Amino acid sequence: MTASGTLARHAPPVPALAERVGWLKLLGAFRRNTLEAFPRACLDEPAVTIPLPGGGRIVLLATPAGARHVLLSATEDFTRLPAGRRAIGPIAGNGLVLADGEAWRHQRRVLAPAFTPRTLPLMLRFVARSAEESCRRLEGGLGAPADLRSEMQRTALDIATTSMFSLETGPLGAEIRSLVSGYLDRLGRPTVADFLLPPGWPTPSSPRRALFRRRWLAVVRAVLAARREQGSGSAARDLFDLLIEAHGDSPGGLLADEVGTLIVAGHETTASTLFWACTLLAREPGLQDALAAEAAGLDLSEEGASASLPRLRLARAVTQETLRLYPPVYVIARRAARASTVEGTAIPAGSIVMIPTWVLHRNPRWWDRPETFDPGRFLDGPEPDRFVYLPFGAGPRICIGAQLAQAEAILVLARLMRGFRLSLAGDRPVLPVATTVMRPDHVPRFHLARRAG
Ligand code: HEM
Repeated sequence: MTASGTLARHAPPVPALAERVGWLKLLGAFRRNTLEAFPRACLDEPAVTIPLPGGGRIVLLATPAGARHVLLSATEDFTRLPAGRRAIGPIAGNGLVLADGEAWRHQRRVLAPAFTPRTLPLMLRFVARSAEESCRRLEGGLGAPADLRSEMQRTALDIATTSMFSLETGPLGAEIRSLVSGYLDRLGRPTVADFLLPPGWPTPSSPRRALFRRRWLAVVRAVLAARREQGSGSAARDLFDLLIEAHGDSPGGLLADEVGTLIVAGHETTASTLFWACTLLAREPGLQDALAAEAAGLDLSEEGASASLPRLRLARAVTQETLRLYPPVYVIARRAARASTVEGTAIPAGSIVMIPTWVLHRNPRWWDRPETFDPGRFLDGPEPDRFVYLPFGAGPRICIGAQLAQAEAILVLARLMRGFRLSLAGDRPVLPVATTVMRPDHVPRFHLARRAG
């Protein structure tokens, strides 16, 4: 794929790929920084096999053909990874992200009507409102260094709860944010035992995860109670109504898991995208000006945001390029339910299969100057192949919130750039660390200045 060159920018610092990787280094890195443990061989070889003790193996597939096979052509042969279930289960329970087989199909059918192009404009009203509130908070804090990571987490959570469940979380919002980020930063990181022990076996983290699960469910039930109390009133039917209709409202039912899943899947990932976009843009004042100019004449209010969205071409390109460089879901993992052969490589049943989006997005075979932040590559020329660029996954399990997430990032970014110029408060490079999510190695502070006019 060729880049336009017109918007070619800096190459942000990232960890180098590893020269030699064994199973312990790779699996152990999920607790520290997986980006340091993906083998360089993934750039050249269609499949990299790493043997596990006891006869199992990890197969890394970092080619479009490998991704297509696992995510589209042979989806029935691959299931959710037990390690993912152990790590994310305390939050997601039996919600859509972790469901498999017939249960997954049913749950996906229930949720699908809430994420169609027809429902998007309604959701974007809430996005516009939250973006406005975020800018108001930032305006109030001008003069002091800003923590845009926390601000974007707060904004994305507001958007998730209001747009999907017509609910202002109020004080519960702070509790949800601190519970979720605390969990993902610590207990949510998969351990080597999570990967190696047979499904269903307890691991050393099990008791603390069970404790967290009780606390998490209590908070989600408080969210549900607040939403029930509020009633549907004259508001349009939202996800809450759809879920009650499909799964009932019993305490032990799917409702809490599905709501919890959507709140977490829907806000951490988008918050991460917005944070990394700000970090990239902080070094590109000219691009910030161009984004501000693009947004200047557009109506970004609740009434106008949906109609303005298609005209925010540059903001869209910046969002897409941010998702290429910092994909929040940096690896897609599965367990082989049956033996198969992919790209000439045998994958016995039980293998751990990983598609490292991080590597696919940075392979010079498919990207011109892959390390460079160049939104221009998404402005001109053809769309990238959907198995070379897959921040939202692909195939039947593609992210159900992809349209909402992109629209949200574009609108928040446009509103932010129209209001402010931003720069990083120090010189320290901001490095990505990928465990359960992609986060920065430290929380940088930003200087914000009001944009004139
Ligand atoms: C920039 C933001 C986002 C990114 C990068 C992202 C990425 C992904 C990816 C890669 C997958 C597929 C994982 C796999 O195949 O194993 C996925 C699935 C999912 N995402 Fe997102 N996501 C984002 C935002 C959202 C939002 C806003 C929502 C909810 C409103 C959401 C809900 C889900 C759910 C429920 C699934 C599971 C779908 C299924 O298995 O059928 N995501 N996401």
